Amino acid sequence: MKKKLIVGNWKLNPATLAEAKHIFSRIKKTGTRKSNVAVVICPPFLYLADLARAALRSAVSLGVQDIFYEEEGSFTGEVSASMVKNLGASYAIVGHSERRRLGESEATVSKKVVAGIKAGLSVVLCIGEDTRDEHGVYLATLRGQLLGALSRISPKFLSHLIVAYEPIWAIGKSGNGAITSRHLHEMVLYIRKILSDEYGGSIARGVRIIYGGSVFPNNAGTFLSEGEADGLLVGRESLKPEDFATIVQSAHDA
Ligand code: PGA
Repeated sequence: MKKKLIVGNWKLNPATLAEAKHIFSRIKKTGTRKSNVAVVICPPFLYLADLARAALRSAVSLGVQDIFYEEEGSFTGEVSASMVKNLGASYAIVGHSERRRLGESEATVSKKVVAGIKAGLSVVLCIGEDTRDEHGVYLATLRGQLLGALSRISPKFLSHLIVAYEPIWAIGKSGNGAITSRHLHEMVLYIRKILSDEYGGSIARGVRIIYGGSVFPNNAGTFLSEGEADGLLVGRESLKPEDFATIVQSAHDA
């Protein structure tokens, strides 16, 4: 049995290192040590080194929200996968819709997937449709996104891949803005089928498929039990230690 994976994406928060350390230490204390759940926090790059020290001997792993695809060279402002790995990150989110909206192309995403896995990181690849249409064109879009992102990676490395299904329309919503667990279940099966058709059943089964988009303490459990997601990618709620702890507990109970 694979552990459920709960990934917190702090995005461009919080504003100071002191706050970041405070939130992180509360997350560590609020019941993140569960035998069947892996917990990952992805802070802004700047806080990684300090939080990596704070994470020693804790049950929380660290990740980053992006990486660049080259190892070194003349790439002003970029951060490489091995740099973050050396500072203590073991996960990297790649292709988040908020980065794609800033202009990240599918080709770039696919190079980042390779760079992350080559550096020894587990890559959380985000895919998700903008909107849904009644003819199901979004399903083909999603398939293209997934296979496009994996076009440069050898199938034997796919055990280091996590697919985060994040429908863009469900991100950052309030209340019941998230997907229904029935629709989520359909999407988990659909993504698994694409992987299975392309790479075979055993490789497909080794890839975790997680869900992100308006995950809250009151819906996390059903996404995992009824939606059959292998984990969750949590935005806003990952900055609230008590709520995040409830989500982790839901994963433990699911
Ligand atoms: P949200 O963000 O949980 O705040 O909707 C999710 C995400 O963008 O990964």
